[in-house]
Amino acid sequence: MRRYNTPYSSRRVLERATIFIPLSTVSSRQFAYMYIRDMIIDFRSDTVTRPTAEMLEVMMTAEVGDDVFGEDETVNSLEAYAAGLFNMEAGLFCASGTMSNQIAIKCHTEPAEEVVCETQAHIYRYEGGGIAFNSGCQVKLVDGNRGRISAEDIRAVINPVDIHKPPTRLVSLENTSNRGGGSCYDIEEIKKISELCRQENLRLHLDGARLFNALIARREKPGDYGALFDSISICLSKGLGAPVGSILLGNNAFIQRARRIRKLLGGGMRQAGYLAAAGLYALKNNVNRLQDDHAHAKQIEQVLKGLNYVKSIMPVETNIIIFEVETCRTAAGTVAKLKEKGVLAYAIAAQQVRLVTHLDISQSMTDKACSILEDLQR
Ligand SMILES: Cc1ncc(COP(=O)(O)O)c(C=O)c1O
Repeated sequence: MRRYNTPYSSRRVLERATIFIPLSTVSSRQFAYMYIRDMIIDFRSDTVTRPTAEMLEVMMTAEVGDDVFGEDETVNSLEAYAAGLFNMEAGLFCASGTMSNQIAIKCHTEPAEEVVCETQAHIYRYEGGGIAFNSGCQVKLVDGNRGRISAEDIRAVINPVDIHKPPTRLVSLENTSNRGGGSCYDIEEIKKISELCRQENLRLHLDGARLFNALIARREKPGDYGALFDSISICLSKGLGAPVGSILLGNNAFIQRARRIRKLLGGGMRQAGYLAAAGLYALKNNVNRLQDDHAHAKQIEQVLKGLNYVKSIMPVETNIIIFEVETCRTAAGTVAKLKEKGVLAYAIAAQQVRLVTHLDISQSMTDKACSILEDLQR
């Protein structure tokens, strides 16, 4: 096996790479750093994972070329592989989930049209006002059920043809819903939404940053989704554990236009195959194991249910746990106390704490975090 320098910030790489990297090459400073990292259990997001030794190996040995010229065979393979999984015609490798969502919105709309999404949607809340900036559109928000909306909700907000009103052009769903605590859509509801969009001549986009979590939780196949949407964005750098990247999927004409918009946004990457190799590895190796993350999240949910400082917990369906603390506590205070004990979490609102399980959270880390959460009762 080829040797390379291990980035010393990666605990997992050390764990897996010591078999072929002589320990003498690891300095005591690196050891100290890794020791401290080992003490920390990071539940802030599933974006914090580090590539494993195996993933780094395929990255280091990837075949690359200039992707703006369409000559990077690894990027081409990743795009074709992902499109094939979803039974869609083509794919486009993008730098981030934000970029692939924003490109999709721009492709589907004209300025002064309206985009329909749920109130908690990432495209509205966390993409920096990108819908207004990049596409010049306005947003019609729908209050749904933990991030999900129904065909009836959408039907009720479609604007009639009226010169006073912006034409409703695009519906965007999020599956799983991040702010909805990793909630999953029922595919039967998506079928109804897809049918409605076809009847009303609306485009339908899916922010599928964590779609594979939903597919695993619901025992569905990617191919079930392709026919229902005009475009799907999937993230490689969340539960799947790649360091960078998302893929936008659609038909050939859509992806051709998306490729031009990616270039004008400065997202044309050159020897991107090193990154695409990680994405291909993630799609081929890290999908089924998401069920471990879901089991860890369920275990934490069970513990939280018995704690006196927890007021409520959103039902845990995948890898995201959102709980509300009692009024005598605050989310920020709870997160600070957890941090003192080596557990990192995220205060997403004054009373709400979020924990996310992922590839770098082991069973023993989950057990340890559960007992720390229990200790916080005192
Ligand atoms: C639901 C959802 N969509 C899109 C994104 C954006 O992904 P990125 O951070 O790669 O831009 C995120 C990021 O957390 C997300 O949770």
